[in-house]
Amino acid sequence: MGALKKSYFIKSRDFIRAGEASIKIQTLLKSLNFDPKLIRRVAICGYEGEMNVVMHGGEGSMSFAIHPGELILEISDDGPGIADIEKAMQAGFSTASDEHREMGFGAGMGLPNMKKNADDIIVESEAGFGTRIRMIFCYRKGGDDG
Ligand SMILES: Nc1ncnc2c1ncn2[C@@H]1O[C@H](COP(=O)(O)OP(=O)(O)OP(=O)(O)O)[C@@H](O)[C@H]1O
Ligand SMILES: [Mg+2]
Repeated sequence: MGALKKSYFIKSRDFIRAGEASIKIQTLLKSLNFDPKLIRRVAICGYEGEMNVVMHGGEGSMSFAIHPGELILEISDDGPGIADIEKAMQAGFSTASDEHREMGFGAGMGLPNMKKNADDIIVESEAGFGTRIRMIFCYRKGGDDG
C-alpha cells in the first residue's frame, strides 16, 4: 500500500492563516482514528514548526506522510536559515522581535517542544538558503493505535 501524502503551503508573515496546515493534519489523523495522544504530539510539532516559518522563515511548506508504522512531518522554508542550530535547539533561545513577543511568541520553546514531542527530529539549515525540519512519529498497527 502506498503512503498517504499531503502538502500545504505556509506563507511567511501571514499570522492570520498561521496554524492552518497543522489543523488540517490534525483533522486528517482524527478521521483516520489515530490515537489522540499521538495526534496531539503531531499537532504541537506542526504548529510550532509552522509558526517558526511564519515568524522567522521565508515562504515554506509542510508535508505529511503516513507510512506503515511511522508518520513523517517535514517543514521547510526558503528563509534566512538558522545560523547556529545547536543554540536554536536550546530552551529559551530566541531571536523573536518585540512585535512577536507582544503576540505571545518568543519564549524560545518551539524547537525544544518539537524535539520533546517527536520520536526523532532532524534539523537542517544553511544560512541564506533556508531550513528543513523532519520529524518522525512511530505508531503501532494499521493506524488505530499510537
Ligand atoms: N524556520 C526558521 N528560519 C530561521 N530561523 C529559525 C527558524 N525556526 C527557528 N529559528 C530560529 O531559532 C530560534 C528558536 O526557535 P524556537 O521556535 O525554539 O523559539 P521562538 O520561535 O523564538 O519562540 P517560541 O517558539 O517559543 O514562540 C528562533 O528564535 C529563530 O532564531
Ligand atoms: Mg518558535
